Amino acid sequence: MKAVILRDITNSDDILLEELEIPKARKGWVLVKILAFGMNHSELVLRISEIRADYINKPIVPGIECVGIVEESFDNGFEKGDLVCSLMGGLGRNYNGSYEEYAILPVQKVFHVSSNLDIEQLAAIPETFFTAWGSLFECLNLQPSDILLIRGATSALGYAAMQIAKALGCKVYGTTHKREKMHLITDLGCETLFDPANKLPDGFYANKILELIGPRTIRNSLGHLYRGGIVCNTGILGGEYYLNGFDPIKEIPNGCYLTGFFSNYPTQETIDKIFAFIDEHGIMPFIGASFKFSDIKQAVKAQEKGVDGKIVVVMDR
Ligand SMILES: NC(=O)c1ccc[n+]([C@@H]2O[C@H](COP(=O)([O-])OP(=O)(O)OC[C@H]3O[C@@H](n4cnc5c(N)ncnc54)[C@H](OP(=O)(O)O)[C@@H]3O)[C@@H](O)[C@H]2O)c1
Repeated sequence: MKAVILRDITNSDDILLEELEIPKARKGWVLVKILAFGMNHSELVLRISEIRADYINKPIVPGIECVGIVEESFDNGFEKGDLVCSLMGGLGRNYNGSYEEYAILPVQKVFHVSSNLDIEQLAAIPETFFTAWGSLFECLNLQPSDILLIRGATSALGYAAMQIAKALGCKVYGTTHKREKMHLITDLGCETLFDPANKLPDGFYANKILELIGPRTIRNSLGHLYRGGIVCNTGILGGEYYLNGFDPIKEIPNGCYLTGFFSNYPTQETIDKIFAFIDEHGIMPFIGASFKFSDIKQAVKAQEKGVDGKIVVVMDR
């Protein structure tokens, strides 16, 4: 089969498809024929720096999510031909990820998919919507009466979060650092805050803030919460990963909350809820670009350049 294999920091120009043996099914693992996968900012981070971390099992096939059909499984609950997805939990970091034609995946990390969306649309859902869902409901306890601000709203994750929160009935604001992207937010019926300097306007307050820029803007976000409000840090688009010198006593306003979401622990129950919600509200994922697997280098280059919406890659069959 064909696969992308990373051994060290790799330039997009050097991305290529190599031959790899199709893995063998074994107890506790499911062999999945990959149909399509979505691309994520974290794969860019893996390729340009994280690959050197000790916890990355090298050489590694990248890719933290996929949709596919079961090819072979020795475990109850999965039959050949079942439509499934997988995401995170070590995919593309501890064991080979989705940039390959067949993947062997731990049975606990494979989830049934029930949806009328086509394969390209399905590929845009698992990681992005699971992360948006967990951030909004598990961490921000989002309610229809909430005023929600999403910082970095034009990322694929931000866009999905706007779609979910609007469908729930919230008042939603989104920031962008590019004037030409403001329409992506308003087209969804959300309010745009143009924020080129990573500083929210004086007098602006929300009671829930989904922070996708990350440590670079968390302090500023905390200063724009109503009492009882919550900031959930889920993204690192600002390029800073840590909050150095953070003083929680003085920097988290009294009666406000700071939390974070990590998409590493998906469950079938949540995946089912997400697809039911998408179906109920007629949500269509925002696909910015779609590539064939044989054009993976162009897909990686498009990610590097930046694309509005989710990049998906569909296997050549
Ligand atoms: N916590 C978790 O478990 C988890 C899970 C999934 C994703 N994430 C994080 O969530 C963020 C979004 O992920 P994604 O996969 O949806 O990303 P993505 O679609 O690849 O979006 C990246 C794009 O966001 C845009 N962006 C918007 N505001 C930005 C700003 N202030 N600074 C830099 N870029 C900005 C950039 O495009 P423009 O510059 O053209 O606007 C960039 O190309 C990432 O930081 C990712 O690591 C976290």
